[in-house]
This record gives sequence, structure tokens and C-alpha cells, in this order.
Amino acid sequence: MTLASPVLLIEGLTRYFGALSALNGVSLMIAPRERRAIIGPNGAGKTTLFNLITGHLAPSTGRIRFDGAPITGLPPHAVARRGISRSFQRTNLFPKLSMLENLRLAAAADGRGSYDLFGSIERYRAPLDRARAVAESVGLLGRLEEVAGRLSYGEQRQLEVGVALATSPKLLLLDEPTAGMSPEETQRMTRMLEGLPREVTLLIIEHDMDVVSSLADRVTVLHYGEVLAEGTFDEVKADPRVYEVYLGGAG
Ligand SMILES: Nc1ncnc2c1ncn2[C@@H]1O[C@H](COP(=O)(O)OP(=O)(O)OP(=O)(O)O)[C@@H](O)[C@H]1O
Ligand SMILES: [Mg+2]
Repeated sequence: MTLASPVLLIEGLTRYFGALSALNGVSLMIAPRERRAIIGPNGAGKTTLFNLITGHLAPSTGRIRFDGAPITGLPPHAVARRGISRSFQRTNLFPKLSMLENLRLAAAADGRGSYDLFGSIERYRAPLDRARAVAESVGLLGRLEEVAGRLSYGEQRQLEVGVALATSPKLLLLDEPTAGMSPEETQRMTRMLEGLPREVTLLIIEHDMDVVSSLADRVTVLHYGEVLAEGTFDEVKADPRVYEVYLGGAG
């Protein structure tokens, strides 16, 4: 079997905050179409890893390649333009705008053509069509005119995934998309993510092991900024070190 060249290749990534190494020599290879979960205790460095990939933080050392080209140290808008999109651990919506407006703004700001108020109908319509398509894929098509701030918590988080998807990313990073959700909302979110096209490679930080086991092809366990274990969910679950530092307690 020949392995497809990785869509994301991370080598020796380290980030210090003062004396603390929040991430310490992390290497990762994500294959195209892969769904990878990043798990680990609070403070393990999961969100820091995302911030380094998306350019919200600069690495102290290490290299990141996406789609065959280096992206290390690029600012967030440049990383987004190459096809990496993310949702945040805390909400990132415009609460007073409708769902459709939230999605349309995201679709229009996809970096591959700047939003133009006086542009042609086509330039206006393309983001609108994209917004509708995304609303459907995140299961919210019936609520397009609802103001984002009035959606239920679960719907808001679904909309956040939609906003991240609206730029047609090749790689989607989701930081705890089910945090704070009821079991029903978590199930709905999981089904929605399972239904996303495989063309969108997925990196998901997740604490809910049911979500991880049903969604992830492979799992990477971070602990004190280092990769403690990596493998299928069953392999990682059977690893006594993983059980000791994570699954035995918080998981
Ligand atoms: N901007 C920052 N300045 C200083 N320290 C930071 C900063 N961001 C993160 N840290 C520290 O780096 C470590 C890793 O934090 P990070 O947010 O990446 O963890 P996490 O794995 O996402 O945790 P959680 O599960 O709680 O979201 C923590 O000790 C945190 O306090
Ligand atoms: Mg985090």
C-alpha cells in the first residue's frame, strides 16, 4: 500500500509561554480525508496546537507543512486562504445577525475573493448559495432567518461548525464542538459531523469518548505538551499510560 502524502505535516513543534513549554516537540502526520481526534487532560496543549497551526500563535521551534507547502509562521488570514478553517472553544458568532447572515459573511470572507459590497450579483449570490448549502449540511436549513443569539445552545454550536465550513476548507479544526451540550445535542452534532464530506479532513479536540470513538479514524493523546500515544481509538484506549493520565480520571 502506498500512503498518500500527508495533508498536514508537523515536525518538532514547540511553543513556550515564559518557562512553560505548552507544546514540546510535537510531530503529527494527517492523511487526506482523515478524521483525527486530539485528546488529553486540561492544559495538555491541545488548543495551543490549533493556535500554532492556524497562525494565531507563532511556534518557538518546529515546522508545519500544509498541502505540500510550509505554513509555519504565516498569519491567520494567510493560513485560512490556503484552506484551513477552525471553530473556537468559545463562541465566535455575530449574535444579532441572522443565521443566514452569519454564514453568508463567512462564505464571502473566504479569502479567495474579498467581499465586495458593490460587486456583481454573481459575487453576491455565490456566498448566499454556499450559505444555504452549508446550513443544510449542518442541519439548520429551516432556521435561516433566526437571529443567531436566539438559537438554542446546541444550534449555535452547529452554526459555528457551519461558519467554519462556509469557506470550503480542505482542513477543518474543531475545538471541543460538543462542550457543554446535552447528550441529545451531542448526538446530533456527532451525526452531523459524520455526515460531512470526506474531502474535508478533520482535526477535532474532544473530551467525549463516545464522540471520539464514533468519529475518529485515529487518535492522538497529548500530555504535558507531548504526544503520549497515537493509534486507533481501541489501541489508545488499551494503552495503560493513557488510562493512567486521562481515561481513568477525567474521561
Ligand atoms: N496565551 C497563553 N499565555 C500563557 N500561557 C498559556 C497561553 N495559552 C495557553 N497557555 C498555557 O499552556 C498550557 C496549554 O494550554 P492549552 O489551552 O493549549 O490546553 P488545552 O489542552 O487546550 O486545555 P483544555 O482542555 O483546558 O482546553 C496551559 O498550561 C495553559 O495555561
Ligand atoms: Mg483547549
